[in-house]
Amino acid sequence: MESRKTRFTRWGFIFATVGSAVGLGNIWKFPYITGEYGGGAFVLVYLLTIMFVGISILIAEMFLGNYGKSDAVSTFEMIGNELPEKKPSMRYLGFMTFNGLIIMTFYSVVIGWIFYYIYSAINGLPTTVSEAETEFSTLIGENIWTQIFFHTFATLTILHFVNGGIKKGIEKLNNLLIPSLLVIMVGLLIYSMTLPAFGDSFKFLFYPEWDKLSSEAFIRAVGHSFFTLSLGMGAIITYSASVPNSINLTKSALTVGFFDTVIALVAGLVIFTFLFQYGEEPSKGAGLVFISMPVIFSQMGEIGSVISVLFLSALAMAGLTSAVSLVEPAVLYVINRFNMSRFRATISMGFVYWLIGIFAILSYSTTYGETFSLFGKPIFDILETTTDSLLLPLSGIFIALVTGYAIRKVDLKKLQIEMGDVMFRVWYFSIRVISPIAVLFLMLNLFGVIEL
Ligand code: TRP
Repeated sequence: MESRKTRFTRWGFIFATVGSAVGLGNIWKFPYITGEYGGGAFVLVYLLTIMFVGISILIAEMFLGNYGKSDAVSTFEMIGNELPEKKPSMRYLGFMTFNGLIIMTFYSVVIGWIFYYIYSAINGLPTTVSEAETEFSTLIGENIWTQIFFHTFATLTILHFVNGGIKKGIEKLNNLLIPSLLVIMVGLLIYSMTLPAFGDSFKFLFYPEWDKLSSEAFIRAVGHSFFTLSLGMGAIITYSASVPNSINLTKSALTVGFFDTVIALVAGLVIFTFLFQYGEEPSKGAGLVFISMPVIFSQMGEIGSVISVLFLSALAMAGLTSAVSLVEPAVLYVINRFNMSRFRATISMGFVYWLIGIFAILSYSTTYGETFSLFGKPIFDILETTTDSLLLPLSGIFIALVTGYAIRKVDLKKLQIEMGDVMFRVWYFSIRVISPIAVLFLMLNLFGVIEL
């Protein structure tokens, strides 16, 4: 067991948790789904869900980690054993830890694309949309070895920091990258404020047009608020196992929620300003960052290459700090339960996701795409959608229910003191009733059982 000995510093914990939350979800995904679903109304639903469901579950995960002070499996087992009817089988809930490795199979591939784009931006940017589209589709469809190379490079970088452990690896990486990321994002924000299209961008994000809000948009907003706060796989549980004792969990959760939301909004403001400034449409889909943005950067002239590299570096930093939080929970579990050294645990967990990641790469290729598809869908998409729409929300419900019903109310005293009576009551109600029902609703709707 190593989790009891190694502790974050107070800021180390905040940076690492912000690092986990702020990821590709904020800078790549949030702007493009906001674009697809029409802006303001979508953003408002997203903000409300973060406030009323996301933050509650974030506090619950932090509490569970601090309570169990171990990996997620051991924590759930301990909570099960404390029940009057003793249920050690609750440990199986801890296997949500492996959701992280499933996410990593494609997350690492996307970080690989970002590395490739940094390299390619240094060598010159595409000048037309069709050129950019060709570059992206050639990379995904034809250049399997290039992708494997950058996926491997991303993996080795991530594993290097996970192998360093909480203090020497993860805390150090986050203490360096998170402030850098903040500086780059603020810089980009200030630059885009000088462009005339900033006003339109602001309007697009913050003036809700209700008729654009479909029920699908509503559900995507709820689902995304889970992904973006790193909920539902034990990442927060695992980091919170190593918090310094005196830390205020509620304040930490609010800080993380605040930074995560602000970075997503800043990324949105910056990207839409650039898009509107250069006459592009906001509804470009997943290729927004990889197809539209390079063209826009090249239209900016000289300064474009610099901004492009800064933007892509911010994206890479955000991705890396999230990736370590996706791998660490499984590594800590293997160390604790199988008595493995950190090095061996890191290598073996890394190998598993790296290998499946190669299948994900092949599933997008023109030559092998069909072989690596299931039910006519590329493995890449299957990995992404099962985690996003099934495993994370399901685990989120369990986290809410365990905190709300399996933990005795007296043990929640720490939170009650931190929050004060009124806010505690609101939180407790959210964890026991609102959050589970809201998420269940979301899942039933996704699977077509009910229609909103
Ligand atoms: N929150 C990260 C993002 O927005 C991704 C992430 C990191 C994550 N750890 C997680 C998602 C745990 C779900 C669960 O990109």
